[in-house]
Amino acid sequence: MSSVQPCGVSDDERRPPTNDLLEIAQRGLALKPKRLPSWLFYDERGSALFERICEQPEYYLCRCEIALMAEHAQSVADTLGSEVRLVEYGSGNAHKTSMLLQHLQSPVAYVPVEISPEPLRQSVERLAVEFASLPLQPLCADFSKPLRLPIPPRAPRRTVLYFPGSTIGNFENREAATLLRKMRNEMGDAGGILIGVDLKKDPAVIEAAYNDRARVTAAFTLNMLTRLNREIGSNFELSGFAHRAHYNPMAGRIETYIVSRREQQVKVGRVNVPFHEDEAMQVEYSCKYSLADFAALAARAGLAVQQVWTDPEKMFSLQYLVRAGTRIH
Ligand code: TRP
Repeated sequence: MSSVQPCGVSDDERRPPTNDLLEIAQRGLALKPKRLPSWLFYDERGSALFERICEQPEYYLCRCEIALMAEHAQSVADTLGSEVRLVEYGSGNAHKTSMLLQHLQSPVAYVPVEISPEPLRQSVERLAVEFASLPLQPLCADFSKPLRLPIPPRAPRRTVLYFPGSTIGNFENREAATLLRKMRNEMGDAGGILIGVDLKKDPAVIEAAYNDRARVTAAFTLNMLTRLNREIGSNFELSGFAHRAHYNPMAGRIETYIVSRREQQVKVGRVNVPFHEDEAMQVEYSCKYSLADFAALAARAGLAVQQVWTDPEKMFSLQYLVRAGTRIH
């Protein structure tokens, strides 16, 4: 059963509860190489820092995706059709969503799915004013886990899962295919997936996006340690760690690490975790795709790319996926 919180957000109990956090951290830190899960970024401060990343001149992803939506919202809305139930994975502040909702014809409901409760609450508050007649059904949950979507207020013609921000790139190929397959099941026969996918390009441009000069990205990644210190009482010394992000051209992805600046020991619960100098802890991959790469990934999940919107420089793409073999509907 999902419980309903005071702000009207239903809280999916399968979201990782905080008391598991110690165990999750200990398990990740026992791996070789050490690895912490990337959803740990998104506490309240992390979500705010991510919004600031989006404002950095080097981080082209958000800007490109917003520009694509600004230019093609009508075409996207036409492709989705009328009476859509729009479900957004990792909705954050849902800015791009507003642009889309403005063009959708009689949408049935908007269901933002977000792991971080505060941005979810704020976005719902804003959307309730902007779209007074649209039913909002927020779900506080980890979208990578099975979801129990709320019952829609009336029967939609189609459920569209909106997955912007190239968040799909934060999953390795195998898991990305698994996640897309799960989405394919959730959307049903007539459904579709509207997904933002960052494209392969000059590695220097990609690398700069994850190493902004204002060092907001560094603050964002290191915030994971601050969060652990606060929530599980670990004693990571922030000055002892650094952010590192490199483009791996063979794998076609940015690899983000938190690196120990010196030999040290950190107390995580009862466990003493040793770090050697320059030891890199893996925190995030951001995979980049060519249009062909992504079509192949979609196919592995039983999906077909029905439409692609992209900018003239092919920096970023917005793609509409349907079940393979159901192109005409
Ligand atoms: N989905 C975003 C991306 O991969 C998340 C992100 C932005 C990120 N900057 C980051 C993740 C830095 C880790 C480190 O682009």
